[in-house]
Amino acid sequence: MLSRSCLLLAALAASVQASPVAAAAGPAITPPPASHLAKRASCTFSGANGAASASASQKSCATIVLSSVAVPSGTTLDLSDLEDGTHVIFEGVTTFGYEEWAGPLMQIEGTDITIECANGGYINAQGALWWDGEGGSGGKTKPKFFYAHDLTNSAINNFYVLNTPLQAISIDGASGLTITNMTINNEAGDSLGKNTDGFDIGDSSNVIITNSNVYNQDDCVAVNSGTSITVENTVCSGGHGLSIGSVGGRSDNTVSTVTFNNNVVKNSVNGIRIKATEGDTGTISGVTYSEITLSAISGYGILIEQNYDGGDLDGGTPSSGIPITDLKIENISGSGAVASTGYNVVIACGSGACSDWTWSDVTVTGGKTYGSCSNVPTGISC
Ligand SMILES: *[C@@H]1O[C@H](CO)[C@@H](O)[C@H](O)[C@H]1NC(C)=O
Ligand SMILES: *[C@@H]1O[C@H](CO)[C@@H](O)[C@H](O)[C@H]1NC(C)=O
Repeated sequence: MLSRSCLLLAALAASVQASPVAAAAGPAITPPPASHLAKRASCTFSGANGAASASASQKSCATIVLSSVAVPSGTTLDLSDLEDGTHVIFEGVTTFGYEEWAGPLMQIEGTDITIECANGGYINAQGALWWDGEGGSGGKTKPKFFYAHDLTNSAINNFYVLNTPLQAISIDGASGLTITNMTINNEAGDSLGKNTDGFDIGDSSNVIITNSNVYNQDDCVAVNSGTSITVENTVCSGGHGLSIGSVGGRSDNTVSTVTFNNNVVKNSVNGIRIKATEGDTGTISGVTYSEITLSAISGYGILIEQNYDGGDLDGGTPSSGIPITDLKIENISGSGAVASTGYNVVIACGSGACSDWTWSDVTVTGGKTYGSCSNVPTGISC
């Protein structure tokens, strides 16, 4: 089925091709530089050669339409050298061949880039071919899905991805990136999918994720570092909740001004989680969780730990090298949300390492009370 946007683009492409640029060029007329011409071109790529052709032509197309592209196994759909202002449209179903390798399956970089799925278009990463219950720590080597790296003043709209083998969207080095209406649907991996993080964010500023849906088996969102990051109006299901961290042990270990607002976390291991790695240094400041609705949480409603060591609460005594300051948790609706075997709220802070917290209207019940909260800031109950 041809979508309306597809027809429009086809018409646009045809009109560009038909423009009499060559015919108009007489001896007295200096042809415009290639880059000027390039800005007008709309290019459509499809099939098994589509990814390689798009990559080779990426600098000469203002709009790149990837129409039912089948990316060959073991290769990256690589659009990491785009001209400023390029528009990338995924039309039809984009697929990737099976191979055991680290990926990424896709990589897009640039300034003022717009990336979207056309009406009815989606990406099928065919994760079930790799899923073996071992994720990134064993079994088949699984490719990461999408490096959305070094995007500046860019947008990803209406992007729908089905079944990533491992982590889905890696946002790194972004400066001004707005993601609207993205769906990451790894629901089919609930028995064998693992480490299928939705959004991993590092070393980025001014990132907004809004009106999105993540069905997966690991962090819905994990902010490892960065500033001015907002996640709102988003639904997380099946995974490990809305996370800061783990923070520590990377080149950038600073998290500041992160807002999670008006999100739903359901059928998940955790609701809200902040993980600071035991023994490392860094800072976590200005994090706000507000208007979060929790339901069917099996492990921890709210878990804040400074003894993360790859697993929750497993690093021994919480340490103080990554202080958590100016933390606001407001209007959390989680009445009866936590399983009776889980914990409602756990706070494992190092000495003097958690301060200036304000919590209001936090209702998280159904699970157990944790008996070993440590160094809890004044005014907060655990
Ligand atoms: C959101 O994206 C989906 C595809 O992922 C699309 O079908 C839907 O129309 C989009 N919604 C809006 C409001 O644009
Ligand atoms: C919390 O909820 C109350 C009542 O619904 C509302 O008035 C208030 O603005 C909310 N606060 C935040 C920070 O969202």
